[in-house]
Amino acid sequence: MVDVVLIHGFPLDATMWDSQVAALTAAGHRVLTPEVGGLGESAVPAAPADIAAMAQQVVDAMTDAGWDQAVMGGLSMGGYVAFAMLRVAPHMVSALVLMDTKASADDPARRQTRRDTAAHVRREASTEALARSMPASLLSASSLQGNPELAESVAGRIRAADPEAVAWCQEAMATRPDSLTTLRSAGALPALVLCGEDDAVTPPADHAQMVAALRDAGGNPQFVIIPGAGHLAPMEQPELVNEVLSAFLNGTASD
Ligand code: MLT
Repeated sequence: MVDVVLIHGFPLDATMWDSQVAALTAAGHRVLTPEVGGLGESAVPAAPADIAAMAQQVVDAMTDAGWDQAVMGGLSMGGYVAFAMLRVAPHMVSALVLMDTKASADDPARRQTRRDTAAHVRREASTEALARSMPASLLSASSLQGNPELAESVAGRIRAADPEAVAWCQEAMATRPDSLTTLRSAGALPALVLCGEDDAVTPPADHAQMVAALRDAGGNPQFVIIPGAGHLAPMEQPELVNEVLSAFLNGTASD
């Protein structure tokens, strides 16, 4: 059985993994879902906004749990944290699960948008505007039409997020370095790269780039596109994602 860490996306929390935690623990795996960046129950790091500070929160959670090493999984911002783990504590990473994320850094326009968002949520002391706008870009058209309860529950999570945490995370993501270089020097780590077919935030092409970088490092990553899902594939198509994830973890355990 395998120890696996799953790091949530922005501006969500560990509850986004509820279905994966249920399926994987029922199969005998141990799952840790640390919350980072002030989201969920976590504290906003005292350190300046930086993805490395979120990786340190993952290191602390693993240390508290008595874990030396785990399969490191993350969705979107959680993927950025997984890349930072390869820089901050590579010995703690036995394999990678990269979901709906990308390894390139932001361009200047995207950085500015993040800083504008951070300033806005601080000024308003509210995440209401994000709760109204984000679900439409995070979820696929089929989820939005066929699963309005999911759209509402994603909006609810965003509404509940601490505005200061949201601002801190945006600033941390804005300064994140390119991680394609990190992946190219990661060695032949087992890796699963998974993407919703209709992910408009980090489309399949971003995942193909990560797959190529992992191959450059000597690895043989699995690349899976999940139909009927956008940027939140594990929430939109939990059964399909659980099946793919379980098969990967069982293969990793038997390596
Ligand atoms: C996420 O889902 O974590 C965000 O879309 C990441 C980002 O803003 O780059």
